[in-house]
Amino acid sequence: MLHTFHHGDYPIFLGDLRESFPAWLHDRGCSQIYLLTDENTRCHCLPIFLEKTGLPNEVTITEIPAGENFKNLSTCERIWQQMLDAKLDRKALVLNLGGGVIGDMGGFCAATWKRGVDFVQVPTTLLAMTDAAIGGKLGIDFQGVKNTIGVFKNPAAVFVDPDFLKTLPERELRSGFAEVIKHALIGDPELWQMVQSEAVTQSHRLTTSAWLDLLRASIAVKVRIVQEDPLEKGIRALLNFGHTIGHAVESYFLETNEPLTHGEAVAVGMICESLIAASTPPPTPPPNERGDVEDAATTSVHSTSPLPFGGGVGGGVETLIAVISRIFPHRPVPESSFPEIWNLMQQDKKNISGKVRMAVPGATPFSMRILEPGREEVERSLLFYNSLNG
Ligand SMILES: NC(=O)c1ccc[n+]([C@@H]2O[C@H](COP(=O)([O-])OP(=O)(O)OC[C@H]3O[C@@H](n4cnc5c(N)ncnc54)[C@H](O)[C@@H]3O)[C@@H](O)[C@H]2O)c1
Ligand SMILES: [Zn+2]
Repeated sequence: MLHTFHHGDYPIFLGDLRESFPAWLHDRGCSQIYLLTDENTRCHCLPIFLEKTGLPNEVTITEIPAGENFKNLSTCERIWQQMLDAKLDRKALVLNLGGGVIGDMGGFCAATWKRGVDFVQVPTTLLAMTDAAIGGKLGIDFQGVKNTIGVFKNPAAVFVDPDFLKTLPERELRSGFAEVIKHALIGDPELWQMVQSEAVTQSHRLTTSAWLDLLRASIAVKVRIVQEDPLEKGIRALLNFGHTIGHAVESYFLETNEPLTHGEAVAVGMICESLIAASTPPPTPPPNERGDVEDAATTSVHSTSPLPFGGGVGGGVETLIAVISRIFPHRPVPESSFPEIWNLMQQDKKNISGKVRMAVPGATPFSMRILEPGREEVERSLLFYNSLNG
């Protein structure tokens, strides 16, 4: 069954592409189609896409190498060159078939081509379906720094079809779950219950209808946040939950022989940031609760702590740890890396006047707290994460 989100000025279709894409394209029309893939999505997703949409094979198809390493200016040059060769005019349509890398970069190239041609996101990873394809943020890495050059521009439409997840490598699939968990904690207690089910650990075996339920709820959270704050001036910061520490951990491991996926790092970040939130009193706690707040020096989790997701969702930080340890491997963060991780956190875009700022969920869905943890609190939370082993 097709589900449609009407997100600002564009639709997000969730369900079988056959039920949405051909009719949408017929209504809209375009002069030409330019389709961007990477080496994996060309092999695994393009045949399904062409079969389901009935598009002829002669659309211009570009394939770029897979991976974040190629989300840069020289790949954009290649894409623009191919757009030039294909004589792409302003009524053309760019289709981005792939994960977040293809969506971010293909969208950026389209948004800048002849001052902007329309583009469509067809996300093929769980991360892109639930997060990257929605919200209009486009961009590329520059001199190794992530997402440095980019623009905000909405796609003409987004088509989310869970069939593509069947070929996604298990590690990538699990990585995408970090964003689903994040969305659950930000705003949807029912999704949080869903994520706690054992079935999710066996995610490769989820039925299409289970995927559709999970995706519908997860996308709804992202859509609501982006609608409230399209240009990231306020509540959208909540989408960075787990990412302040997570990005620093990700960058650190990137330089080692065993890099983490984005989701694995965000999972560590969500545990650490939840612990910091649980040991930090809210700005104006009711007087009778003030005494209940634990000293930040302890890392045990207090049941009446001002937990993110309010504890009202059920279970608080212990449940988060249990869910994450079922989905992600435990990857201790070496103590020798702590100074570097703190340094990396200080470069975070959200910081103001040299203070590290992190947004964590408040006590009720879609509420937010901003924390300004010191180095010691961050290190204590990492030590606690390390101690969780197994
Ligand atoms: N714009 C945003 O708001 C936003 C939000 C979050 C993340 N991002 C960006 O998204 C990127 C990460 O996205 P990602 O995790 O999707 O990475 P990705 O695009 O690199 O895809 C991961 C891997 O899976 C392969 N793949 C994709 N779909 C497949 C399928 N169906 N079957 C088999 N293989 C498949 C890809 O070729 C790649 O090797 C980062 O660059 C990040 O900055 C953007
Ligand atoms: Zn993320």
